[in-house]
Amino acid sequence: MASEFEGRDGFTSRFGIICAAAGSAIGLGNIWRFPYVVGDSGGGAFLLIYLGFILLLGIPVMLSEFIIGRRGQRNALGSFKRLAPGKPWFIVGVMGIVAAFMILAFYSTIAGWTLHYVLQSFTNAFAGKTSVEINQFFDAFHTRAFLPLLWQLIFMAMTAWIILSGVRKGIEKYAKVLMPFLVLLLIIMAIRSVTLPGAYEGLQFLFRPDFSVVDSSVMLAALGQAFFSLSIGMGALITYGSYIRKQNNLGNISVEVSLADTLIAILAGVAIFPAVFAFGLDPAEGPGLIFTVLPNIFQQMPGGYFFSIIFFILLAIAALTSSISILEVVVAYLTEELKLTRRKATIMAAAAAAFVGVFCTLSFGALKDVTISGLDIFGLLDFTASNLLLPLGGLLIVCFVGWYMKQADVKDEVTNSGVLKVRLFNALMFILRFIAPVAIAIVLFDSLGII
Ligand code: PHE
Repeated sequence: MASEFEGRDGFTSRFGIICAAAGSAIGLGNIWRFPYVVGDSGGGAFLLIYLGFILLLGIPVMLSEFIIGRRGQRNALGSFKRLAPGKPWFIVGVMGIVAAFMILAFYSTIAGWTLHYVLQSFTNAFAGKTSVEINQFFDAFHTRAFLPLLWQLIFMAMTAWIILSGVRKGIEKYAKVLMPFLVLLLIIMAIRSVTLPGAYEGLQFLFRPDFSVVDSSVMLAALGQAFFSLSIGMGALITYGSYIRKQNNLGNISVEVSLADTLIAILAGVAIFPAVFAFGLDPAEGPGLIFTVLPNIFQQMPGGYFFSIIFFILLAIAALTSSISILEVVVAYLTEELKLTRRKATIMAAAAAAFVGVFCTLSFGALKDVTISGLDIFGLLDFTASNLLLPLGGLLIVCFVGWYMKQADVKDEVTNSGVLKVRLFNALMFILRFIAPVAIAIVLFDSLGII
């Protein structure tokens, strides 16, 4: 065992790796970010484009990350150095580490809000409030300084604490049991939502594509959301890939994780949008969307008090299994390349991300007038990381596997040294070499005005 991972820690079961990879993918990206970006981007057409990107680009990039990680047996940066010694490919790893800091910073803002909503659910703070009052409640909370910051730091500390307890014990243990409950709850909430009076309009918004609203910025938003939601483009899954055993089937894992992630996002959409319209809320209200919609749904459910508590707890846990995969990118790099102890690396990385995170949190209140080309600090970090760095990272990752790596090595990883029969290998190589890089490049450079 020890030799298989070259003395490194690793996942011991197929179930463990599925849970960890799905734990990374499923998080605030599905339940918080997906609905708000769909709302901002005009609904149904975005959803179709998003689904297309998941299938055509997301799954191949995810598989490529696993291939690089398992072959390289190192962190995101180290794997490139090892597979391409003396070549500049390691820059992809550097970009990933930068993206990890940015994402962790704003992710912890939203995760902090989630923790606050756990407590508010316990104290039944939303009881009897109209949707206007729920909106005011959210505004009064998230524009403040102290409370959101406190929750953010608590969340960051929790993330660091799980990372400190090690890969197997930490990540596997927390990811394993809880996500099926989240799915169950979402299904119940979706049923409540679609049976609200006026719900139909929300379903239309989500499922009836209106391509007249699609422009290059909607395309880029769909691309960024696909990458963010699948945790790809910054090496989180390169890092996890390096913990996957030789006999696990990387292709299957990629497909299963992507499917689960996508289903949960759609489920979240079905829970949110009918309610948005039923309560007369604005689908394009931005990052606060779920925090103003969900309490309304719980009000309309028998047992809503308990549903609300359980839901926000599960959402916070889903956020944790994602945030640990982001922090792990940095920690694996610091321990393996710079030889820091795991403890030192974790504390340093979490503290640095928390520092940046403070500005994200305050950008909803005290710093809301600090903007660059129309984006506040939060929006700027989110846009730069999710819509620019992740797609660019993904582009380089598929090019690395498609063009730089020896095809025999790629085949060796995908087939587990010939053990698995992989029928679609040629199709995969075609996607990795041509379709994925060209498609990502077109969407990315078109929206930036480069082509
Ligand atoms: N995919 C995670 C989510 O949906 C967020 C994430 C992004 C995790 C990038 C790792 C890397 O919440």
